[in-house]
Amino acid sequence: MSIYVDNLSVSLGPRTLSFPRIDLATGSTALLTGPSGCGKSTLLNILSALQPNACGTCQVAGTAVTELRGRAADRFRAENIGMISQTLDLIGYLNAYQNVQLGVQFQSTAKRDKAVQSLDSDALFDRLGLTGANLTGPVSKLSVGQQQRVAVARALAGQPAVILADEPTSALDPESTAAFIQLLLENLDRQRQTLLMVSHDHGLSEFMDHRIEMSTC
Ligand SMILES: Nc1ncnc2c1ncn2[C@@H]1O[C@H](COP(=O)(O)OP(=O)(O)OP(=O)(O)O)[C@@H](O)[C@H]1O
Ligand SMILES: [Mg+2]
Repeated sequence: MSIYVDNLSVSLGPRTLSFPRIDLATGSTALLTGPSGCGKSTLLNILSALQPNACGTCQVAGTAVTELRGRAADRFRAENIGMISQTLDLIGYLNAYQNVQLGVQFQSTAKRDKAVQSLDSDALFDRLGLTGANLTGPVSKLSVGQQQRVAVARALAGQPAVILADEPTSALDPESTAAFIQLLLENLDRQRQTLLMVSHDHGLSEFMDHRIEMSTC
């Protein structure tokens, strides 16, 4: 399996957050829903080895992520995780190509060489419908919809096993949301890449293989 979570919890100050059991096969897609503050973003942080003090079982792409620290955690993230955050986290003064290449730079040499060799940014931008955009100017000058597509390109560029998306459609109207999800799903390599997406929009579950509800707060 690609993501396996069991008996997982984390203490944040006086609060302990507990997470539901998750068992996602490689190549599957899941929507993660739950009320604000229940720990959805915290779970994505744990899955991407950004939250080191979690207890329990949390396997991502065959690695026990709660045991990773420092450089090993950074390397794991660079090689296995493609993140699309709500705020996109693009570097505004860099252009689309530079933003996409940045994520790949932190991979180990062997994986990076392979990813760089096979990375065809133009083909990726083309697939994502970005051909008309000014891809050589600062991404901050692109529309929000175009910036979202660059963020998707960056998440896919390193050929990660797992794509984690944290409310990537929260600023979009329903029509744009459906188009964005379709675009993302069409561009996943469904044989390999697993998608876990956080959203408050329960309607998105129709696009996904599974839905995971977090209710405990
Ligand atoms: N570093 C931290 N230290 C202490 N508490 C934290 C920390 N990070 C998050 N929390 C708390 O943990 C809880 C879960 O936060 P989290 O951001 O994971 O929720 P969420 O489900 O993503 O919410 P939202 O839907 O609003 O994005 C919240 O109560 C938050 O205040
Ligand atoms: Mg959140």
